[in-house]
Order: sequence, then C-alpha cells, then structure tokens
Amino acid sequence: MRIAVAGLGYVGLSLAVLLAQHNDVTAVDVVPQKVEALNRRESPIRDAEVEAFLAADASGERPLALTATTDGAAAYADADLVVVATPTNYDPAQNHFDTSAVEAVLDLVAEVNPGALVVVKSTVPVGYTESQQRLRPAMRLLFSPEFLREGHALQDNLEPSRIIVGVPRGGAATRGDAEGFARLLQEGAAGPDAPTLVMGSTDAEAVKLFANTYLALRVAYFNELDTYASERGLDAASIIEGVGLDPRIGPHYNNPSFGYGGYCLPKDTKQLLANYEDVPQSLIGAIVEANRTRKDYVAEQVLQRVMGLVYQGVPHPVVGVYRLTMKSGSDNFRASSVQGIMKRVKARGVPVVVYEPTLDDPEFFGSEVTHDLDRLKECDVIVANRWSDELADVADKVYTRDLFRRD
Ligand SMILES: NC(=O)c1ccc[n+]([C@@H]2O[C@H](COP(=O)([O-])OP(=O)(O)OC[C@H]3O[C@@H](n4cnc5c(N)ncnc54)[C@H](O)[C@@H]3O)[C@@H](O)[C@H]2O)c1
Repeated sequence: MRIAVAGLGYVGLSLAVLLAQHNDVTAVDVVPQKVEALNRRESPIRDAEVEAFLAADASGERPLALTATTDGAAAYADADLVVVATPTNYDPAQNHFDTSAVEAVLDLVAEVNPGALVVVKSTVPVGYTESQQRLRPAMRLLFSPEFLREGHALQDNLEPSRIIVGVPRGGAATRGDAEGFARLLQEGAAGPDAPTLVMGSTDAEAVKLFANTYLALRVAYFNELDTYASERGLDAASIIEGVGLDPRIGPHYNNPSFGYGGYCLPKDTKQLLANYEDVPQSLIGAIVEANRTRKDYVAEQVLQRVMGLVYQGVPHPVVGVYRLTMKSGSDNFRASSVQGIMKRVKARGVPVVVYEPTLDDPEFFGSEVTHDLDRLKECDVIVANRWSDELADVADKVYTRDLFRRD
C-alpha cells in the first residue's frame, strides 16, 4: 500500500515507522529540519525504538520503505491511505479546540486525491469527524484514537493495548475500510493481536477523551491524597501503598507529582469538559480544577521554604527548577506541571533559574536558563517534579513530591 502520514511528531513518526515495515510510506511535515533529519535516518524526537528502527534501516539489517517530504500535495496525490497526525490545541481563553492543522490536511487531500482513505489519528473533540464528513461528503474518512505515550511512542504501537477505528455516520468509508486499517496496524505490530473495536467515530472520539480524563483523575486523586497527608503530617507513601494493595485500585500510576501535565492530559480534560456543555457533571470539572489546586498548593509550599530562608537572613533567595520536562527520560516540556509552579513563584517576585540541558535559549519566560548543574545547585531552593540522583548532594534543598522515584 502507498501511505502518506501527515505530521512527524510522536504519533506520526511512530506510525510512519511502524507502517513502513510492510508498505511504501511518505511522511509529510511542514518543518524542513524534521524532514531532512528523517531522510538522514535521524529521529526528530527522542524515542529508543524509533532510533533503533532507523539505525537498522540505515545498516540494511531491517529495511523500511520510508521517505520524508515537505510536499504534502505530491505525497497525498500518490497515496491509497493518508494518516493525519497533526497537532490539535485547546485554547482556554476562547474555550475552543484548534483543529486547523487537521483541516489543512483534509482540504489538501480533498483537492488532490478525493478517493483516498483518510484516517485521523489526532485527538479531536467529540463529534468532530462527523462534522468534517458533512463538509466533505465524498471523503472516505475514519477516526482512530491514538494511545501511545511519549518516550514509548513506537513501542506502544508495536504492542498496542487496543486498536479502535471509528466510522462516521453517513460517510463514504465502510466498516471494511475500518477493519482494513486495523489490520494494517496489527501487521506492523509485534506479538499477539490486540483487542480491536470498530465503532462510530463519535464514540471513538469519546473513548480517547474519557481514557485520558480517567488518567488525569487518577493523577489528581493521588496528588490530592498527598496534599492531605502533607498537611496532616501523615506518611503519604504508606497510605498510597496501602490503598494500592486493593486489586481493584492497583499499585501503578500513583506517584505524586506537581500535577498532571504534558501535551495531552491538560488539553484533553478541558476538551471533554467543554463537550459536556449542557450535560450534568461534577466530576469532569473537578478534575480540571484539582490540577490548579494542586499547583497552587505546591507553589505555596515552595514559597514557604523561600520565606523561611528570608527569616533566616538570606536576603533574596533564588528558586532553581530542575528540568522542565514532565518525566525523566522525556525530551519535551509541553505543558509540564513544573511550569505552573514556576509561574506562581515568579508572580510573587522570587527569581527563578531553570536547569534544562535540552533548551538552547538563554531565557525561558524571562528566567535564566542554565546547562550547568553547579549553577542550579547554587540556588537556595530546588524544585524537581521528578527526583534525580544528580541532586543527591543538595537533597536538603530539594522540594519534590516524587515519593516512589518513578514516573
Ligand atoms: N504526544 C502524545 O503522546 C499523543 C498521544 C495520543 C494522541 N496524540 C494526539 O496526536 C496529535 C499529534 O500529537 P503529537 O504529539 O504527535 O504532535 P507533535 O506536535 O509532536 O507533532 C505534530 C507535527 O505535525 C506537524 N504539522 C503541523 N501542521 C502540519 C501540516 N499542515 N501538515 C503536515 N504536518 C504538519 C508539526 O510540524 C509537527 O511536527 C495531537 O492531536 C495529539 O493530541 C498525541
């Protein structure tokens, strides 16, 4: 099959590599550097499996039929299948989900190759695919939610938890098209077949938003448990361990943090809340609100440490931020929760120094950026969403809620 994949981010790149094992894949991006990197067989994102697959292709050990281009029109014109993995962003000021990068691809495909099968992998509002289908009645459009985690993008597609494909009502794509796409994903995967569901596209969109909102709920729940334990002088780690031994709850995904963050959970929870509109709810709004409450609490704890130092005679304490990334091992810091702590601390006039070796700018939102760990260690209070042994010699200065030393 000739496949074009639009967007060379976590989702698009992992799918392009997965599908290029058995199909001719052209990956499209608007950023020439990403395209050039992939054509040199360098991964534009940090992902161990993607890097290993690209290296195995370069050495001829395990070939991939994969090229990258900025020429979307040519790639889509030539394709039997177009997979859309461009970004979608929630704008809280306007309570609006920006899906324009998805529509740009749909418009171009409609123009150059109206018969192609098009599968949207980007996360979109509930009802979006059917609304796009109504605008382009002849398009063979499907929606398939993507469940990968950053840092494990290809691994999660090689071993998918499930494959879901949604068919819009009244569209030109058939159930057979949806099953065919599921088979393509399965063919690229390693190991036994994943559970596969074909459903309406609106149901499939809801699956994605409800799954991410449950994950956010779980993070918020253990964070709020931790806030309570901290305020009452209790041992949060023991409580969490005891709670998690109930097999219905389980001992996973329960490590306190500064809040849920990253690219997807903050925007997808807000999107689901917006989708509730006239539907009664208390919980979905509370999940969004709980993340703000947690960041307010963590920032207050940091500021109390700062005030404590002022009383001890330190005239202008400086707060150091250890990494902007959300998780150890991650290479991006989109919407990471530590940024919310930074913002609150700076709003009280406390200077902040950021240690982030992957950031080449001298400043981040007006704060000094350093690649020098010793410069960070000079700071009076160090905040770390996730602990690192690099901080062991200044442990008494570190504020973290990483109780279990894991993501
Ligand atoms: N990152 C995740 O963990 C994850 C998981 C599941 C779902 N998703 C969803 O998948 C979508 C993509 O996420 P991502 O993390 O891969 O995004 P990303 O921002 O890492 O990558 C998107 C890429 O699309 C490119 N792009 C933008 N406009 C384009 C256009 N018109 N044509 C071609 N390329 C274009 C960008 O340059 C960028 O390289 C989002 O809707 C996201 O919510 C992400």
